[in-house]
Amino acid sequence: MNSQYFIDLEDQFGAHNYHPLPVVIDRGEGIFVWDVEGKKYFDFLSAYSAVNQGHCHPRIIGALHHQSKKLTLTSRAFYNSVLGEYEKFMTTTFGYDRVLPMNTGVEGGETAVKLARKWGYEVKGIPQNQAVVVFAKGNFWGRTIAAVSSSDDPDSFGNFGPFVPNFESVDYDDLNQLEASLSNPNVCAFMVEPIQGEAGVVVPNDDYLQGVRNICNKYNVLFIADEVQTGVGRTGKMTCCEHSNVKPDLLILGKALGGGVFPVSCVLGKDEVMLTLKPGQHGSTFGGNPLACAVAMESVKVIIEENMIQNAEQMGCIFREKLKNLKLPNIELVRGKGLLNAIKIKPFDNGKKAYDVCLQMKFNGLLAKQTHEHIIRFAPPLTINESQINQAIEIIEKSIKEIA
Ligand SMILES: Cc1ncc(COP(=O)(O)O)c(C=O)c1O
Repeated sequence: MNSQYFIDLEDQFGAHNYHPLPVVIDRGEGIFVWDVEGKKYFDFLSAYSAVNQGHCHPRIIGALHHQSKKLTLTSRAFYNSVLGEYEKFMTTTFGYDRVLPMNTGVEGGETAVKLARKWGYEVKGIPQNQAVVVFAKGNFWGRTIAAVSSSDDPDSFGNFGPFVPNFESVDYDDLNQLEASLSNPNVCAFMVEPIQGEAGVVVPNDDYLQGVRNICNKYNVLFIADEVQTGVGRTGKMTCCEHSNVKPDLLILGKALGGGVFPVSCVLGKDEVMLTLKPGQHGSTFGGNPLACAVAMESVKVIIEENMIQNAEQMGCIFREKLKNLKLPNIELVRGKGLLNAIKIKPFDNGKKAYDVCLQMKFNGLLAKQTHEHIIRFAPPLTINESQINQAIEIIEKSIKEIA
């Protein structure tokens, strides 16, 4: 069976809610993937940063195998022998009182919004049904009705109304607007990504997150950090907020928490917020299942014990430096932190766009995906080394020159 066979199958039988690059991946190992014809590629997307540890990391697959032979799912109707250990590990590692386990990233966001509203009514004293949650424009936290209700991207919200009320948004990286908005006593939370991933790896000013923390403190508003994409080592720290020495009230993790093998997300927070939820008020059949807990624990341990955080920081600096040194006229901008990076493509005279560069890079053996029309994100697994960075830079340079 060749690639076209599998592309046609998806085209014929699947909903058309994605527009993938025409490559059919059959196998992955570390920073590489192979298509069904056996061609090898650098993976510079890492499943939108869910595969930080590299494809099929032996320790993570080992944890999956080990636990899958013993116990996979109990639901939360009963205790299981892994969840408590996982909760202890996560709260100790990330420095919070409690953790609430979910599955996908968007469920993490939903959970944080629900916690914030509940805290708003029961602790802050906001009048019933008046709680407001503030978001940053350009945010992306998934595809549920709540997530698209906070979006300003017409592709996300168009024809999906009516929307969740009392969601407001302010410009990203604008502390004046934020202060004006949070001074409303009915605001319970501000939810923000420390770097906006899907918006095109938008990095705010160095003092932004500290400013967010101060304003949230001043108006007694919860600071929710959506680190689903930036967390678990991606930006060269365990969480991106650590770069700014700030601690959010609620921390959402997902993607790489599951080591690229299992959907695992969570919300971490302090007692005052987490204990507003009582039995029966929130949950999920699969959330906190023993298989996910075993995989997630190993996924975080691998990141720490195999020095992937330091490597992300070092390789990220080298990668950005080399991209800038290419001095290609069609690279308008290079930005990012750690191994979450992007370039902005200046439109080519011949009308070609970032998508065409991605196609050409695919042809030359590197997979990456454009976000919006002109931005290409580069986010390889955190295990990449310098000689592999050099090879990748050569492919990027060659591809852009060929397109120009
Ligand atoms: C910052 C952020 N939050 C949340 C999500 C949603 O995660 P999931 O697709 O696992 O629901 C994403 C997905 O890209 C994301 O980038």
